[in-house]
Amino acid sequence: MPATPAFDAAGEETLRDILNAHRDLEGPLLPILHAVQEAFGHVPQEALPIIAQDLNISRAEAHGVMSFYHDFRENPAGRTVLKLCRAEACQSVGADALADRTREKLGIDWHDTTADGAITLEPVFCLGLCACGPAAMVNGKLVGRADAAKLDKILEGAR
Ligand code: FES
Repeated sequence: MPATPAFDAAGEETLRDILNAHRDLEGPLLPILHAVQEAFGHVPQEALPIIAQDLNISRAEAHGVMSFYHDFRENPAGRTVLKLCRAEACQSVGADALADRTREKLGIDWHDTTADGAITLEPVFCLGLCACGPAAMVNGKLVGRADAAKLDKILEGAR
């Protein structure tokens, strides 16, 4: 997995701007986490204690919220982010086997990135494409009726 880049002074300034823009919202933590991920591509570990202190909540609480939502990542993503639906409708048409095969082929588990930084694999729970499962998303684009051949092609193109 790629190392988390340094959270330097410029990064902290960006975080302070985000906090200033969001702290007065009702329930500011989620919008702040989204904005941080948007700005950095992930939520740097160093950001969480600063966010927690700013909002006067514990680090554990901030971390708990972040890990509850699968969209937030602690490490930078690969160039291609492949999300595979793990919800029921997709499971009923073979999503589990497809996910097992994909993890084995990439040699990584959920939330991990291949060593070459090419592909990050993430689970997702319903993409609204239930009638065309198994569903996937590749860098934000939906893929319906995903199968081994389709995913192989996508993964080859990502490298
Ligand atoms: S269950 Fe997979 S898209 Fe809805």
